[in-house]
Amino acid sequence: MTHERTQVAIVGAGPAGLTLGQLLYRAGIDAVVLEDRSRDYVEARIRAGVLEQGTVDLLERAGVTERLQREGIVHHGIYLQFDGERHHIPLSELTGGRSIVIYGQTEVVKDLIAARLDAGLPLRFEVSNVAVHGFEGGEPFVTYEHDGGERRLDCDVIAGCDGFHGVCRPVIERVLRTYSREYPFGWLGILADVAPSSDELVYNHHARGFALLSLRSPTRSRLYIQCRPDEDIADWPDERIWEELHARTALDGWSLEEGPVLEKGVTGMRSFVAEPMQHGRLFLAGDAAHIVPPTGAKGLNLAMHDVRVLADALIEWYDNGRAGLLDSYSADCLRRVWRAEHFSWWMTSMLHRAPGGDEFDEKLQLSQLRYVTTSTPAATSLAENYVGLEE
Ligand code: APR
Ligand code: PHB
Repeated sequence: MTHERTQVAIVGAGPAGLTLGQLLYRAGIDAVVLEDRSRDYVEARIRAGVLEQGTVDLLERAGVTERLQREGIVHHGIYLQFDGERHHIPLSELTGGRSIVIYGQTEVVKDLIAARLDAGLPLRFEVSNVAVHGFEGGEPFVTYEHDGGERRLDCDVIAGCDGFHGVCRPVIERVLRTYSREYPFGWLGILADVAPSSDELVYNHHARGFALLSLRSPTRSRLYIQCRPDEDIADWPDERIWEELHARTALDGWSLEEGPVLEKGVTGMRSFVAEPMQHGRLFLAGDAAHIVPPTGAKGLNLAMHDVRVLADALIEWYDNGRAGLLDSYSADCLRRVWRAEHFSWWMTSMLHRAPGGDEFDEKLQLSQLRYVTTSTPAATSLAENYVGLEE
């Protein structure tokens, strides 16, 4: 068994683990990042693409915004479409000038990996059998296998940034309280090689089900339609997907442009929170601790908030010997987590067709959509949640 020591052992090289690693590095704190997938796999995984200003600021602090500044697309509003009409929600106007940036999470991850490897910092891909130990006492350590050998990593703190299916949350299951909701639908998403047909994102309410028009760049569209959670992608040739997208987004005087489909997949939708987000010297961050349905575009942004709080707490602990911020880590994160949980659930409920739902449900949704697109206070509430509430 090979032994090694670091200050913070980070399990998972998603946006949470990688950003935490860079924030700690910039503060002079050592970390080792362990990832069970390959670099190619992690860099090819297509995820969301809406960054709150707070997320961009944090990536700036992590020193990884060179390409983001060049290629990120600033948006000042979104559209809500229902009843054959498209309504604009002027996010910036309603929130004192705040905006969002469109830049794929996949690109964020590529930039973070490149920064870490360029700086010669430890990031191990394709590790296996990761297990966390000793965090209830003062000597935590992580064991894993890499390059055919068994390894032990001693540390002061373990950061569980290993996503919803990781190993860190299950080991503390008995001290956790969990809250969850499964939705009876999923999203079928495609990446298409065609310029976006709309200048801003369009969230569509339709009797056939929800549809979302998003984008990745001036020449790439990202489009979603509501489907069954267990939908078989094999039943969805490209023509059928376009047909459904046209039907759900149709608007007089506007048309959806088609292009070659580069990627397609189905994702389930769930809300989930585990409390507390800490046990002893083990801290959970990002999807390891909470999941939101994608309708509010909050998953990545919440993960980034967690690691900001965790990095600041660790810096305070190492620099001044004070554990106050580490002790309040879970409570400090959960306030924002629950706000985002509510917002994401609310957006989801307002926009999707509930299987088995009736006309009463649809009337309520339409009334709510009408309200948020005609009342400034109601639109402001949506806008401030969408761009991300200030602390
Ligand atoms: N050992 C090491 N790594 C692991 C293990 C394990 N046992 N289990 C999972 N991982 C890795 C995954 O392969 C993944 O790369 O942990 C990483 C977790 O990354 P994400 O799932 O991306 O989660 P997180 O970093 O919290 O990012 C938050 O925002 O848009 C949302 O859900 C989306 O990924 C998203 C997230
Ligand atoms: C995306 O572009 O992938 C995207 C945008 C907005 C959402 C969810 C996903 O709410």
